[in-house]
Amino acid sequence: MDYRPKYHASVRSGWGNDPNGMIYYNGKAHLFFQHYPHAPEWGIMHWGHFTTEDFVHWKEEPIALYPDQEYEQDLGCWSGTSIEIDGRLYLAYTCSRPGMQRQCFAWSEDGGMTFQKFEENPVVTAEQMNGGFSAGDFRDPKVFRHEDSYYMIAGTRLFRKGMHTCGNLVLMRSQDLKAWSFVGVMLHQQDGFPSEYFNLDGCYECPDRILSNGKEILLSSPQCLPQMGNRYQNKHCVVYISGQTDFETGRFHIDEYQDLDSGFDLYAPQTMTLPDGRIIMIAWKEMWARTHYTKEQGFVGTYTLPRELEYRDGRLYQYPVREIEQFRGAKTQLEQIRLHDGGFEISGFEGNVYELNLTMKREDAARMGVRILKGPDHETCIYLDALERTVVFDRTRGGREIRGEEADNCVRKCDIERIDTVDLRIFVDVTSVEVFVDGGRYTFTGNVYPEEGDRGIEFFAQGGSCIIEKAVRYELDV
Ligand code: FRU
Repeated sequence: MDYRPKYHASVRSGWGNDPNGMIYYNGKAHLFFQHYPHAPEWGIMHWGHFTTEDFVHWKEEPIALYPDQEYEQDLGCWSGTSIEIDGRLYLAYTCSRPGMQRQCFAWSEDGGMTFQKFEENPVVTAEQMNGGFSAGDFRDPKVFRHEDSYYMIAGTRLFRKGMHTCGNLVLMRSQDLKAWSFVGVMLHQQDGFPSEYFNLDGCYECPDRILSNGKEILLSSPQCLPQMGNRYQNKHCVVYISGQTDFETGRFHIDEYQDLDSGFDLYAPQTMTLPDGRIIMIAWKEMWARTHYTKEQGFVGTYTLPRELEYRDGRLYQYPVREIEQFRGAKTQLEQIRLHDGGFEISGFEGNVYELNLTMKREDAARMGVRILKGPDHETCIYLDALERTVVFDRTRGGREIRGEEADNCVRKCDIERIDTVDLRIFVDVTSVEVFVDGGRYTFTGNVYPEEGDRGIEFFAQGGSCIIEKAVRYELDV
């Protein structure tokens, strides 16, 4: 079966991980990414490059950064971000060598297609900071402007008690992108925040920062954050931290710390702001150490549907980018169907490239939801569990076996407040399933590898009844 997605960005051949340098520049959206072009496995890193004008069709441009300098020998050009200054595009990235990660810049004179590296590179080293953090874990610069300075946030590990190190984020300041000074460590033990957040046996990878409806939010991908209830079920998870940066001390005063996605395969997200003000996020739609069956087709590296982010009602909401709606094709719909302890499979609803919008109202069902990509032996289930007060994404019978570092690679859950109705917006793209729960308040992202014919959709209730208030499926014609 051909696993190539139809409407998600995916690397043409070889390997792709983290999104990098996302920016709207020169009339297009640019998505750079961690790339090893020679084989579908992680190797010395380059920056690959996609552009898009509609967030659905992605053009793979020539490689933007090659690991061609002595300071990036062996490991290459790692993750980072970009910034436009006086019409020029600058990339900030980590040059990585064994035990030595430092920050570099490159800029473009031709509208963001080819890049030249700063002669002064590397411009930031762990030693030139306050000496308190590890030179071997200092990476993924997020560069932005605040008032009249440039700032950089990077992930690191702080030395504590001898050789023991703990993941954190550091803030630096510059006037010219070349000379940088240390401002401070961002994350501190604070009332109401478990010490696990500041005692990671890993690095806070790929920081980003957004401002939405007046709220400041950091996004980051901490390694090895311990699971807490149904949160942080992946060894590599993604958090968003709302609060406020003190630009004098570097300290971030935390309001809230949350799981960004409750699924299996989402990491290292990054954002860009569009001219109309929307904040668009894209993440790597894979996971470290998982089985990647697209390898058989010579590529590993798919990216999420771009998502619009908005902070409201005390949460960071995610909505599928609205441009996708232009590609809605054939529509199938049903309304007001009562299900009692059983399944309802309906012809005309099947497929593997579609958007499904489903609202179910619970009467007394213990569980209600939908089985998708269903065939004789396979199905992927998404449902509300009223007794547990969770929404569940179960890929136990989704298709080929998926292995990973976690004890459970088949089931993910998220806690929800409402159990009288559930609203699921599901985007399916061959192997990809993205679920937006209750208007984007929660999301699940996961890959499954079914067989060609596994295309059925079945709505179901268990342990009582429910009503399908409305189910609408659109074929996506891309
Ligand atoms: C996260 C990450 C980054 C690093 C890059 C290397 O997935 O480990 O921290 O810069 O991947 O490819």
